[in-house]
Amino acid sequence: MTTDPSARSPDAPLRSFGRIKSRAIKPRQAALFDTLMPLVKLPDPAAGPIDVSALMPGAQEVWLEIGFGGGEHLAVQAARNPSALMIGCEPFLNGVASALRHIEEGDLKNVRLHADDARAVVQALPDGSLDRIMILFPDPWHKARHNKRRLIQPAFAAELARKLKPGGRLRFVTDWKDYAGWALERFLATPGLVWLADETADWKVAPEDHVVTRYEEKRLGDTDPLFLEFERV
Ligand SMILES: C[S@@+](CC[C@H](N)C(=O)[O-])C[C@H]1O[C@@H](n2cnc3c(N)ncnc32)[C@H](O)[C@@H]1O
Repeated sequence: MTTDPSARSPDAPLRSFGRIKSRAIKPRQAALFDTLMPLVKLPDPAAGPIDVSALMPGAQEVWLEIGFGGGEHLAVQAARNPSALMIGCEPFLNGVASALRHIEEGDLKNVRLHADDARAVVQALPDGSLDRIMILFPDPWHKARHNKRRLIQPAFAAELARKLKPGGRLRFVTDWKDYAGWALERFLATPGLVWLADETADWKVAPEDHVVTRYEEKRLGDTDPLFLEFERV
């Protein structure tokens, strides 16, 4: 697994995530890295373009969740939308272990995981290949000197837009006011993306299909969650 940050190439983007491991992973979950992970692992994006159609033949949609944390949202969405292929990326290994447990317990057949930086996956996906992109509570890096580590930067926003199909949607959720403003400014400046909000309620009220995770429940930010939804035109 390419999770050792010291192994990253010098031209890799700045780390947008914190720790990649915390407490010891329980033996049952650790075993899933050997048994289940090989079955659900996304092809290595460093090996070249990812052939999405080969990942789940017959998939009607392809979704990408960036930074799935413990995989609660990913697993619920996968169970609700069995005909959609769910690609989840997360470098935090305890989170990946938890996602593997959800996949096993839910007998989910439509999830593929990348246990590392989503930006490499986004680069390797064909343009116009995604129906939905979900970025939920990304690390806020709220001190000004850390803002450059934020996932949402102009070039990445443009790349995300290119990967969406026309009519595809991108959801960004944060409970940090400043990051919401930062992301909104950058997405609005991204060619091909249109913000779907008509009124305040559209960004203050959770979309119907939103799934609350334990992380969201902690309310670590400085505002109630803000939901930004964009469409690729
Ligand atoms: C604050 S947590 C939120 C987790 C989850 N989305 C939730 O709402 O419960 C943000 C997660 O994004 C992950 N992350 C940050 N940068 C990432 C990147 N470049 N690629 C994939 N995941 C990333 C972090 O490791 C972390 O687990």
